[in-house]
Amino acid sequence: MSDQGKRIAVFGAGYVGLVTGACFAELGHTVMVRDVVPERIAALRRGEVPIYEPGLDELLAGNRDRIGFTLDVAEAIDGAEFVYVAVGTPPTFSGDADLSAVWTVVDELPAIDRRIVIAMKSTVPVGTGEKVRHRLDQRGLGHVGYVSNPEFTAEGTAVKDFMEPDRIVIGAFDEADGDAVEELHRGIDAPVVRADVASAEMIKLAANAALMTRISFINEIANVCEATGADVVKVAEGIGHDRRIGKSFLRAGVGFGGSCFPKDSLALKQLAANSGYHFQVLNAVIEVNELQKRRVIGKLTQMLGSLRGKRVALLGLAFKPNTDDTREAPAFVLAGRLLAEGADVVAWDPVAHADGLHGVEQVETVDDAVRGADAVVLVTEWPQLRDVDWPAVAAAMRRPIFVDGRNMLDPDAMRAAGFAYDAVGRAAPPNGSPANS
Ligand code: UDX
Repeated sequence: MSDQGKRIAVFGAGYVGLVTGACFAELGHTVMVRDVVPERIAALRRGEVPIYEPGLDELLAGNRDRIGFTLDVAEAIDGAEFVYVAVGTPPTFSGDADLSAVWTVVDELPAIDRRIVIAMKSTVPVGTGEKVRHRLDQRGLGHVGYVSNPEFTAEGTAVKDFMEPDRIVIGAFDEADGDAVEELHRGIDAPVVRADVASAEMIKLAANAALMTRISFINEIANVCEATGADVVKVAEGIGHDRRIGKSFLRAGVGFGGSCFPKDSLALKQLAANSGYHFQVLNAVIEVNELQKRRVIGKLTQMLGSLRGKRVALLGLAFKPNTDDTREAPAFVLAGRLLAEGADVVAWDPVAHADGLHGVEQVETVDDAVRGADAVVLVTEWPQLRDVDWPAVAAAMRRPIFVDGRNMLDPDAMRAAGFAYDAVGRAAPPNGSPANS
């Protein structure tokens, strides 16, 4: 352990908690991760990592002497100078964030008399820090510090996002607590944004909202491109060179999903509404995304007529490649709509499962998915789809209709392979009829 090493308790052994714990251990701190699920803790103690996140296994294995796992609050807190909160904050039926797991952590904190700092990693509504501060004070824990230190990690690149972030955001009531949390990140080369707690909380929500806005924006541009004959991929390239706009998050597709964007957009919308403000842009961003997931159905209907009894193959179930996460995945919405239209739905994904998608047949290979299909929809841009023998796929289908929901493949090559190929916001053949018919 380095001389600078601190003792950190991390509450929550989910995706954020494990990445946070592993990265802090890598930075030389001693970490104890606490969770309430016995199987999860037992697995972690055996060296098994319960989530699929590139680089995490290696990090945990390489820092085994500096990271432990426990079910016990007292053991986690013992000697800790920082308590990181990385528990889930799912939406409630009203769209507000459910903070019950956060409150449990705060209330479980023993009546310690030494200085300790609570650092909030979970995404919470603006004002949560203020409420936690008040609760701590009421409990006579005025000496326990509170800092907002939101995460900006994306699944699949979380370890890199933590170790090489664009910025570190720290919001503190007491500057000394902010300094201490900043010091924990020593070894990471990134700008540090120091703020008040409310602003730090809003930075996280606003960053996600800005990214979602870009996606819904480019998806609407794509829809107008379709109506007017322009190609959104070229348009995104052309506007992305403008440094004021930038290149990232301009990929048009079947909409965003995942564990963060849909939940956090609802939480921000609700936060604004609860304060009496109607957040018009955000409402539109959410609505555009819902419609975008469903546009494929209209395209298939246009090409196939009624979808009743038609076999539709979905390539990809995960909300994005390189994860097995299907939370709020567009594929699930698509599958649900297709089933409602009476289609037979078959799905392929290299790691994600169609759990809960009753009526969907999941198969092991792309070949099994496409055989005899009336249409194929590429929903998740898994890299292995680049190597598929597409002419063979077109030949194996009942009708070679292909909707590329992620603009992943080359339109000319796909049409040459024999497909009636359609994508998102790219010029399609005039009446969508198969190129070879
Ligand atoms: C996101 C944020 O990137 C991260 O900072 C935050 O902490 C959590 O939410 P994540 O959900 O893991 O991370 O995935 P991300 O790679 O951002 O993609 C989110 C969704 O947007 C995916 O469904 C993806 O397919 C979609 N997307 C992304 C697009 O449709 N177009 C794009 O240009 C980019």
